[in-house]
Amino acid sequence: LNYRVPRTRKEIFETLVKGLQRLEYRGYDSAGVAVDGPDSNEKNSSICLVKKRGKVKALDEELYKQDSMDLEAELDTHFGIAHTRWATHGVPSAVNSHPHRSDKNNEFVVIHNGIITNYKELKKYLQTKGYEFESETDTEVIPKLIKYVFDNWESEYVSFSSLVERVIQQLEGAFALVFKSIHYPGEAIATRRGSPLLIGVRSKFDLSTEEIPITYNNTLPKSVFSDIPLKVYDVAGSQESGASIGNFKHENIEKDANKKQRLNSLTCLYSVGDLKAVEYYFASDASAIIEHTNKVIYLEDDDIAAVAEGKLSIHRMNRLAGDDPSRAIQTLQMEMQQIMKGNFKAFMQKEIFEQPESVVNTMRGRVCFENNTVILGGLKDHLKEIKRCRRLIVIGCGTSFHAAVATRQILEELTELPVMVELASDFLDRNTPVFRDDVCFFISQSGETADTLMALRYCKDRGALTVGVTNTVGSSICRETSCGIHINAGPEIGVASTKAYTSQFVAFVMFGLMMSEDRISLQKRRLEIISSLQALPGQIKAVLALDSKIKELADELYKQKSLLVMGRGFNYATCLEGALKIKEITYMHSEGILAGELKHGPLALIDKHMPVIMIIVRDACYTKCQNALQQVIARQGCPIIICSEDDPESMKNAYKTIEIPHTVDCLQGILSVIPLQLMSFHLAVLRGYDVDCPRNLAKSVTVE
Ligand code: G6P
Repeated sequence: LNYRVPRTRKEIFETLVKGLQRLEYRGYDSAGVAVDGPDSNEKNSSICLVKKRGKVKALDEELYKQDSMDLEAELDTHFGIAHTRWATHGVPSAVNSHPHRSDKNNEFVVIHNGIITNYKELKKYLQTKGYEFESETDTEVIPKLIKYVFDNWESEYVSFSSLVERVIQQLEGAFALVFKSIHYPGEAIATRRGSPLLIGVRSKFDLSTEEIPITYNNTLPKSVFSDIPLKVYDVAGSQESGASIGNFKHENIEKDANKKQRLNSLTCLYSVGDLKAVEYYFASDASAIIEHTNKVIYLEDDDIAAVAEGKLSIHRMNRLAGDDPSRAIQTLQMEMQQIMKGNFKAFMQKEIFEQPESVVNTMRGRVCFENNTVILGGLKDHLKEIKRCRRLIVIGCGTSFHAAVATRQILEELTELPVMVELASDFLDRNTPVFRDDVCFFISQSGETADTLMALRYCKDRGALTVGVTNTVGSSICRETSCGIHINAGPEIGVASTKAYTSQFVAFVMFGLMMSEDRISLQKRRLEIISSLQALPGQIKAVLALDSKIKELADELYKQKSLLVMGRGFNYATCLEGALKIKEITYMHSEGILAGELKHGPLALIDKHMPVIMIIVRDACYTKCQNALQQVIARQGCPIIICSEDDPESMKNAYKTIEIPHTVDCLQGILSVIPLQLMSFHLAVLRGYDVDCPRNLAKSVTVE
């Protein structure tokens, strides 16, 4: 929303489309925008909707086909919304894509990230009131509902935010919403519950300050729903009392102290009567807006943010104990080039090649190679409590889960605690017993994965200490956990996670090292691991140098239907993760097989036609892996072996080898996964697929 910042309609389209393109990794089956119509003026306001099935590029092209749009017209104040979709309810199509509307006149239009779980009930209710639905989506109930509330409001005037407040009282599920209406031209309302939402603020005037007070409305609005009871939610929701916004507290103490010093009121910028030109950006994540501003406000569940006449206010229904009375404007450290592809063909490829630096960034300021210490600032104050716990439970989904599998053994060894590793969805399905003396880790690149977030709330309700391990500062998991580790891998855009995996891996190893600092019997082991961490970036570079050899192997394999990946011990997770990469972006069938289980079933798949990759490195499982190799060869299998550089035995029996540098056993998985990341990338390119946007997938799955 630009307020007194003249922009042509073309510039507004470009801003919206570019923002969508930056968010495309979240979903890309259809997209849409809503902007003020060409006939809008002070008295007469209209909204124009353009929606298109397919990627954002298709929408972009469609926008310029709209003859009625005067692209060069300059608008002083303007508010546009745009959305890229990952279908949950209803097939990808123009009509199912967002923004959704209240009626044919587009009186209210809405974009939504999340799922409304009680939409059927609401839809039925609204249908009885004469509303006709045009899409199959859950979202469409929202614009219809707001129009219904508007039309039935008891007094003549109602503010836009009051309408939204009533609407969200009726909604169940997860949402981040932005509303636009012809009845409130130039006004924007945004709110969230469960799904992320932030506001970027840009002004040519100095934003030296950094706090927005919250206003409360302690009186519940009267319901206009005669036959649906008004639902009242616990709006305190997830908020941890005393938690600082967006951060694992302790690593940010300095920043917070700074903030306090710089604190002065925002009134000069926001007060009515002294309004300055300002632009606001609402987005699901910062990458969509970073080219415009690095000043952002992260909204909390049930915050209602309203911009009217250029003034931003944040409102909550009830003030409850422990509520933070304000929202800080934070300054993001993200750089533009971090979210650009540069000379690489795909973000995924760029991210694979960034790993020598991203693992260093994970260790920076935490591992001291001179005196062999590891300090994770975000956990420091909870260390005693963690050491006293009964067990560690590590919970995640997809690649993040694999990072937990990869480090389980070293965590058990260094912490001498039982470690459970859990897929979030299954953990919840089982109603897994959790106790007050458990410590639960939530590992998530995005920090927003709904399954992981639900598991976090489940564990919190049972009194366990919760620890976040994420790559996204300000994400829901960061905010809702008691403490945590930022993996600092930098923004990851490719849907298939690569550098986040290796950084998560390093983060858990660092945690194990920190936990074992005072264990005399473990010192030798610790020193070996710490010195291996130091050598890791150079070794990753050596593996990346094998890229052309891996491409040659991919040339041989890309027409195959299936690819098995086999290994055991510290490298079992590599098999799972390698197979996931292959599935995700090449659409080949791929399975990660525990070599110990080979004889219990998978051996039946082996013959001279079945492509197999085996991981055999010099660790405690070496001999057992050689046995598996013999079993494969005896069935005419032709394995490609990822092996250590000095392993004549494997080289002799392999169809082909990929030789990787040797490191300490518990870090070997970082080096062994990279050839599989590269292999999946080349296979996908050779098969002609879009590496960064695999079909049916989204990077950040904010629905259960
Ligand atoms: C989705 C993505 C995967 C990712 C998983 C967990 O399924 O497609 O690449 O590993 O979510 O995401 P998280 O952000 O929690 O690590």
